Amino acid sequence: MSLSHHIAVITGAASGMGFAAAEALAAKGAQLVLLDKDEKVLTVAKQLNGQGHAVDLTDSTTVEHALEESVARLGKPSILLNCAGIAPAKRIVSKEGPMPLADFTRVIDVNLIATFNMMRLVANAMSQRELIGDAVERGVIINTASIAAFEGQIGQSAYAASKGAIVSMTLPAARELARAGIRVMTIAPGIVATPLMLSMPEAVQQSLSESIPFPKRMAKSSEFADLVMHIIENPMLNGSVIRLDGALRMA
Ligand SMILES: NC(=O)c1ccc[n+]([C@@H]2O[C@H](COP(=O)([O-])OP(=O)(O)OC[C@H]3O[C@@H](n4cnc5c(N)ncnc54)[C@H](O)[C@@H]3O)[C@@H](O)[C@H]2O)c1
Repeated sequence: MSLSHHIAVITGAASGMGFAAAEALAAKGAQLVLLDKDEKVLTVAKQLNGQGHAVDLTDSTTVEHALEESVARLGKPSILLNCAGIAPAKRIVSKEGPMPLADFTRVIDVNLIATFNMMRLVANAMSQRELIGDAVERGVIINTASIAAFEGQIGQSAYAASKGAIVSMTLPAARELARAGIRVMTIAPGIVATPLMLSMPEAVQQSLSESIPFPKRMAKSSEFADLVMHIIENPMLNGSVIRLDGALRMA
């Protein structure tokens, strides 16, 4: 399926899964609007013939301007992939005392509120897309949660809360945006070999991989991208959360 008439907005496109999905979408001919706080996103955008915006997604005014500029230049998007996220681990109470409230708030701001913000802004533009011929779909929104939404580990209270909320809003968002012909899906990855994971000591990587029933290895970013492409192409996928985890259930 060619996506040459599609404009895809991707957050977190400078690295890991967002980057892999951007490559896959570009290979199918989609025009890309890439957002990331890492300036590397500008190089990635150049490489993939897209538009890059080095923005902190928690700064809504800057994000709105970036999206307005891209819509003015390219047109209204039909694909949104929310991939940006952070995963700092911190206990609620540690030797240093209670977790600073700002640490919890930051994770919620980046992972949850920025995801919702992108969804509201892009869905608004998507809903104004004109349908051509017998088309009935205006767009698809894919959010990235984590299996920590279901089985968070010690130190993941903030992360699990942020990802759990992304899971929870999938169905109500899909129900609401159905009227506009927009689907909403969420992917909950298990352990994926991204720069974040690959920077861990070899022994930690080994033991994480051992904990996955089958296949006994971390997922590849390209397997996440494959799922993104399938969700885009399969119109019956809507309102659901798909785990991408090799049957891993965190203890
Ligand atoms: N790697 C895993 O094993 C794994 C597992 C489950 C879920 N996830 C989720 O998948 C998503 C992608 O993870 P990844 O492993 O590819 O991570 P990554 O660190 O390789 O990429 C995340 C990107 O998000 C960007 N980002 C972070 N905060 C931002 C902000 N405030 N504004 C703009 N950009 C920001 C980073 O600069 C980075 O380029 C994240 O939401 C993560 O929580 C990852």
